Amino acid sequence: MAVSDAAAAAPRRLERLQPRDAEGLCALSIEAGWNQVAADWRLMLDLGWGYGVRGPRGQWIASALALPLGPTISWISMVLVTQPARGHGLGTHLLTRCIAEVEASGAAAGLDATELGRPIYQPLGFRDVYPLSRWHAQQGLRHAVAPPGGIVVRAATPDDLQRICAYDRSRSGFARSPIVTHLLTRAPALARIAERADGTLAGYALGRDGYRALHVGPVVAEDQATGLALLSSAFAGADRPLIVDVPDRHGEIRRWLEQQGASAPRGYMRMLRGGSTRIDDGAHIFAIAGPELA
Ligand SMILES: CC(C)(COP(=O)(O)OP(=O)(O)OC[C@H]1O[C@@H](n2cnc3c(N)ncnc32)[C@H](O)[C@@H]1OP(=O)(O)O)[C@@H](O)C(=O)NCCC(=O)NCCS
Repeated sequence: MAVSDAAAAAPRRLERLQPRDAEGLCALSIEAGWNQVAADWRLMLDLGWGYGVRGPRGQWIASALALPLGPTISWISMVLVTQPARGHGLGTHLLTRCIAEVEASGAAAGLDATELGRPIYQPLGFRDVYPLSRWHAQQGLRHAVAPPGGIVVRAATPDDLQRICAYDRSRSGFARSPIVTHLLTRAPALARIAERADGTLAGYALGRDGYRALHVGPVVAEDQATGLALLSSAFAGADRPLIVDVPDRHGEIRRWLEQQGASAPRGYMRMLRGGSTRIDDGAHIFAIAGPELA
């Protein structure tokens, strides 16, 4: 079924979500066992938009969000339906509404699909970009790997923000400076940069707190060795269990995570709908910001 047909087929009382809805919406992600906190919902609704459906007591029972990452791409996420309301078309309706609205704006829709979600997205016209694994690590991962010669990894400070934003744009292809700014302010203890002797950036790492674990990402760098030094340094500063979403192509990072006793019980597929749009192939992305932040 075409996206526009599916969206038209199930008229519902959809409400445009507001940043003030963040606390209430958080119950949906917690019920699903996800890691987002209200600050994540607020960020996504400050920078993006979405639709929700309320139950009889006014509580949110379903949601879907879209986060613009520049004029050519928006990220779809937080497609959630509370258990008792599942199986009645709400999830499909919200998802297709967001896709249709993204595409009406002239942008392509991207998302990170779970293994269960991928068979749903393929017939809707989404194509695979690259596979990722979600790694879980216990706290106590203390061993930071040294960066390649000539590069220093250190804590990032607010003075580094402009350079990090410019670097991120050039390597990830996403226009997401407000997200980078938010993460640096929100979790400075996880923020790192990799710097050469001449002061140019060779990479950065950011992260955030979460409901179940600290989330490390994005980690963007020139090469895998620098990415691993940044990731391991962020891990070494953490005092709680951690999660990180790593593109599968980065075998050195996967091996290091396995050596640390981390496990990857589930994977995602980065997917994109829209013929002409291209996104980065993950060569410089050693951890994504998260399936909800791209
Ligand atoms: C996935 C989910 C949103 C579907 O909501 P729903 O209202 O029950 O979905 P619908 O009634 O419209 O769709 C029916 C079918 O499509 C699937 N579906 C719809 N949207 C989906 C989505 N975004 N991802 C995965 N599966 C989806 C349903 O699992 C169901 O499959 P089935 O026919 O084989 O049983 C809901 O089960 C949920 O919140 N799950 C936990 C969170 C999650 O996995 N979200 C998707 C990843 S972003």
